[in-house]
Amino acid sequence: MHIIDGKMWANKIIEELKIKVQELKFKGIIPTLAIILIGDNPSSEIYVQNKEKKCKEVGINCLIKRFSAMVKEEEVINVINDLNNDEKIHGILLQSPVPNLDEAKLMNLISPKKDVDGFNIENLGFLASNEENVLAATPKGIIKLLELENIEIAGKNVVIVGRSKIVGRPLALALLNRDATVTIAHSKTLNLKEVTSKADILIVAIGQAQFITEEYVKNGAIVIDVGINRIDGKIYGDVNFDSVKDKVKAITKVPGGVGPMTIAMLLSNLIYLVGE
Ligand code: GUN
Repeated sequence: MHIIDGKMWANKIIEELKIKVQELKFKGIIPTLAIILIGDNPSSEIYVQNKEKKCKEVGINCLIKRFSAMVKEEEVINVINDLNNDEKIHGILLQSPVPNLDEAKLMNLISPKKDVDGFNIENLGFLASNEENVLAATPKGIIKLLELENIEIAGKNVVIVGRSKIVGRPLALALLNRDATVTIAHSKTLNLKEVTSKADILIVAIGQAQFITEEYVKNGAIVIDVGINRIDGKIYGDVNFDSVKDKVKAITKVPGGVGPMTIAMLLSNLIYLVGE
């Protein structure tokens, strides 16, 4: 069994990004990410802090626009419009979940040219037409991990458990674009074990700690665990590592697997949007 070390790969990518940022700064461009954070969801606070920390490390300017959960829609729309029109801003991220307001509507107001998350309907349309532009950070991180580990995607049976807008859906399209045979399973899937047991590559993004045990996994499968579940201050993946470890060919760990790749890919998307 081989452990896919996302942290190690992410660190390498971060080092490459640092060099690109220096080159941009030499040309007088300061790559800038704006993050809109509404409300006080504790997980979102941690995600945003981590994004800000990594931006600083790489030399990217990170502006955080904070709003209370009671903010009026109009106020957020005005800020998105201002950021869309501000040449000094290269990427805009609306942290999900957004309390009280229409998250999808707000995300679609972000200019597709500054859509660092790839959640804008226009960029999702490009993805669905196999004309990928900005790919969401977690799917991009997973695909990058498979590529860096020389794991073949084309022709493989890939089962994704979880159909979220942030991971499952864009990931399924991105893998299809790379010629995988893709199945999306979810909470209503019948005989889940039967479905997941056929996967050459099993990717789990359901947000349920330790859900996947050895009965769900084929011998020699590659397992990618996207879960980040906090219980009593400890982080657990969606896969029960100890249960599956002797059955799999390769597996990511939590923490230190997909998570660090997600942040690295977000910053990589930002540099892509700078467009130099
Ligand atoms: N909340 C959890 N993950 C993400 C992400 O990748 N982007 C945004 N905008 N919000 C999130």
